[in-house]
Amino acid sequence: MSGAHAAAAPQELARTAPEPDGTPAGVWSTSVRRGEDGALSVAGVDVRAIAAEHGTPAYVVDEADLRARARAFAVAFDAAFAPAEGLAGADVYYAGKAFLSVAVARWVHEEGLRIDTSTGGELAVALRAQVPGAHIGLHGNNKSAGEIAAALTHGVGRLVVDSLPEIEKVAAVAAELGVRAPVMVRVTTGVHAGGHEFIATAHEDQKFGLSLASGAARAAVDAILAHEELELVGLHSHIGSQILDLAGFEVAARAILGLRAEIAADTGVLVGEVDLGGGYGIAYTGTEGAPNAPGAVAAALADVVRRACADLGTAPPRISVEPGRSVVGPSGLTLYTVGTVKPVALDDGGSRTYVSVDGGMSDNIRPALYQADYTAALASRASRAEPVTARVVGKHCESGDIVVRHVALPGDVADGDLLAVPATGAYGRSMASNYNMVPRPPVLAVDDGTVRVLVRRETVDDLLALDLG
Ligand code: LLP
Repeated sequence: MSGAHAAAAPQELARTAPEPDGTPAGVWSTSVRRGEDGALSVAGVDVRAIAAEHGTPAYVVDEADLRARARAFAVAFDAAFAPAEGLAGADVYYAGKAFLSVAVARWVHEEGLRIDTSTGGELAVALRAQVPGAHIGLHGNNKSAGEIAAALTHGVGRLVVDSLPEIEKVAAVAAELGVRAPVMVRVTTGVHAGGHEFIATAHEDQKFGLSLASGAARAAVDAILAHEELELVGLHSHIGSQILDLAGFEVAARAILGLRAEIAADTGVLVGEVDLGGGYGIAYTGTEGAPNAPGAVAAALADVVRRACADLGTAPPRISVEPGRSVVGPSGLTLYTVGTVKPVALDDGGSRTYVSVDGGMSDNIRPALYQADYTAALASRASRAEPVTARVVGKHCESGDIVVRHVALPGDVADGDLLAVPATGAYGRSMASNYNMVPRPPVLAVDDGTVRVLVRRETVDDLLALDLG
């Protein structure tokens, strides 16, 4: 993230995007290639053909790549947590907040994942994809009675409760519907992580979960056990996002397994499941540390669960995890068309080339919101021109409308060229807005030489249709 680079000159930070290399740890999805004429292709489809038929900006999803990432998580967790390993199995829930459409929900479910939702809207998409309720979880720190009722009516396998009042709310809705609600308690362990680092503090000053240190998590468990309408299915911990160092997960896992042992000692109830959340980091620019493959994550978590349970003298729980970004992020790229190109003189005597594209902060808010770093590559042709220090910016009326803060692009980049920004599959379309009345781009799935529209492009007419005048 940019803060760490504050002192460096722009030209030192402006690196060329890594070339597509076909590896799952890279910034590009595995089927991206650069052809002999210099243009990029995805799953055998030339990006110029995608742009000609569907326009830009467009989110392009590599279906086989996404399916392979989902399958890799399912296979890795099945193997690492198998009874033969002395453990009690694992389920992987795809965190739909990263990106959810009916097709994507179906794909990941076909590849062996369940779906984690955090609103009634995400729940509706998973149900539309015919994912069975039992394979869906519902999160949220402020679920409405309607969302709780929808989840219970469709037999959702777990509602993750986030506060003491919510326990009463879920119990009331369950009583009204005449069902028993399966609930998990979201526990805040004091561990927070993101990027390369984690911090552990006792007390929590944030909206999510019930604190371990203050006793709130324990009070929630006792409240649930006292309600006939509620079935305590598990304890849950989520420590952050874009995490590259697995140490934070290990600390949080030990803390929550300790709480589970304490509950067992006091009440005789050994909670059956523990969810260790999502948050596994991916490569955005190729300059961050290497992302952990699903096999490495599963092995590290299995190891800590095995050791912690042995130390605590408790039988291991069934484990679940909730990766979002690491399933869908690297499978997507955004295709833009270049418009205005403008060199700007800098105080240090250098210059920066502002390359404007036909989207921006409405299709990718992450650079503006989190100072997230991306990279970009000329996608429609090769160029031998000397690279320039460029900043890719959008078309919005805001100077913070930045897509890529620092990137080296060929000096002849010009109006009409296509640019591709890799690793936009997660938290791109799902956080998109209509700022400046810009319609949101389509989501196009590319597989085996063909393109399919998963989510169509919005039009200004769509936006006007909402305006009742
Ligand atoms: N489970 C829970 C309870 C979560 O809150 C999240 C993310 C996940 C799973 C999935 O985390 P992932 O594996 O995708 O890192 N909009 C931000 C990320 C916010 C994540 C919020 N919770 C971004 O664009 O970086």
